[in-house]
Amino acid sequence: MSAEAAAAPERTDVVDLYLKHIGSGRAVMGRVMGSMAEVRSEGVWIHADDGRRFLDFGGYGVFILGHRHPAVVEAVHRQIDTHPLASRVFLEPVAARAAQALAAHTPPGVDYVHFVNSGAEATEAALKLARAHGRTSVITTRRGFHGKTLGALSVTANDTYQTPFQPLLPDVTQVAYDDPADLEQALAARRDRACVIVEPVQGEGGVRIPRPGYLSQVRALCDAYGALLVVDEIQTGMGRLGTWWGVDTEDVRPDVLLAGKGLSGGIVPIAAMAATADAYAPFSRDPYLHTSTFGASPIACAAALATVRAMEEEGTVARAAELGPRVLAAVREVCAPYEGGLVREVRGRGLLIGIEFAEEQAVGELLLELIARGVLVNHSLNSTRVLRLTPPAVVEDAELDLFLTTLTDALHSTADRMSVRPPR
Ligand SMILES: Cc1ncc(COP(=O)(O)O)c(C=O)c1O
Repeated sequence: MSAEAAAAPERTDVVDLYLKHIGSGRAVMGRVMGSMAEVRSEGVWIHADDGRRFLDFGGYGVFILGHRHPAVVEAVHRQIDTHPLASRVFLEPVAARAAQALAAHTPPGVDYVHFVNSGAEATEAALKLARAHGRTSVITTRRGFHGKTLGALSVTANDTYQTPFQPLLPDVTQVAYDDPADLEQALAARRDRACVIVEPVQGEGGVRIPRPGYLSQVRALCDAYGALLVVDEIQTGMGRLGTWWGVDTEDVRPDVLLAGKGLSGGIVPIAAMAATADAYAPFSRDPYLHTSTFGASPIACAAALATVRAMEEEGTVARAAELGPRVLAAVREVCAPYEGGLVREVRGRGLLIGIEFAEEQAVGELLLELIARGVLVNHSLNSTRVLRLTPPAVVEDAELDLFLTTLTDALHSTADRMSVRPPR
C-alpha cells in the first residue's frame, strides 16, 4: 500500500462522508467516476488513493503551469513562513507587487487591479463597478459563463442554473455570441447605461471561437453607445489561448478585464478584476466600497506573483502558442474517422480545445472511458455536447503521445458502446 493510501481514510469512507456531509449528488458522481479520491499531484499528474495516477488534461482550465509548480509552491511556503494573511490595516507589499506584475501584461492602460478569491467574485466586482458608473443594464451573450454567485449567475446564460434562483438581477439581456448586429440592437436601446460582458472564446459555452474582428467590433459598438466593456478572461487568459489574453489578438482594450483560474498557479485560489483608471475610479476613491476579508491575501498574491514570474521565465505563453496547434491537429486526426458521425467538430485556440459530439451521451461515455484509462478531461457546463481539453503548457511530448493513444482507444470504445460505426 502506498503512503497516501495508508494515510487516507478508506475509500468507501470518503464516499460515505460525502453522502452524509457534502451531498448525495456529488457522492453518486464520485461513485460513477470509480470511487477514487484524489490525494496528490505534480506536473500533469493527479494521484488517487488506490495508487493509480491520471494525466490531467482538464482541471477546468486552472493548471496552465501544471500541478504544484515548484516556483509557486516555494513562494507560497515562504509566505506562510512570514505573513500569510494581513491585518488589512497597513499596506501589504505582496499584493502591490502582484498587481504590478499582472498589470505588466494586461492591455496598455488596464493598470488597476482588485484581487478577489474566485472568478465569480471578479464578475461581481465588475458588475458593481459598472453600476457605480450608472451602467445598470447588462448585456451578456447566450451560452456565456461568468460564475454562479447571484450576480454572476444573472449573466451566466443557462436556464438550468438560473431557473431555481429566479428572480436574478433585473435588466440583463442576452444577445447572440459572435453577432455584432444583435449586440448593436441591444445597445441602441440602452445608450449610455449598458455594460457588456463577453468572453474572447466561450469556454464553458463549448469552446466557441468568434470570427476574427468580433472583439474589435464589440469594442467599437461599446464606444459608440457609451457602454462599459467587461472582457471575461477567467478561462481564456493567463496564456491559455497562446497569448496572455484573448483580447491581445485584436489589440482590444477593455474597460475591465477579469482574470482567474491560471492566476492561482494551481496552488492558492485567486482572481482579479483589472480596469483602466477611468473605469476603476469609484473603487480607487473609496477602498471600502467593495471589500472582502480574504481578498488580496498575501498568500494568494504570493501565488499570483510567482505564477506571473514563472510564466515570464519559462515562456509559458509562447509554449502554449506552439503546443496548441500541435495538440489541435493531433486531436483532429484522432477524431477524423468519426467526423460526420459521432464527432461533429474539433475546434480550439491555444490550449483550449473542444470536441463537439453529435449526441450528449458521447461526452459522458468518453469521459468515463478516458478515466478508466487514466486520463482526465472536462465536459462544458453550458454546452452539453462538447468535451473540453485544457492541457497544461508544461506537458511533455511523451505525455501528449500517451494522451493521444488513450483518446484513440477511448473513442473507439465509446463508438462501440454507442454502436456508432466510423462513417469511413
Ligand atoms: C469565463 C469564466 N468566468 C467565470 C468563471 C467563474 O469562475 P469561478 O468558478 O472561479 O467562480 C468561470 C469558471 O469556469 C469561467 O470559465
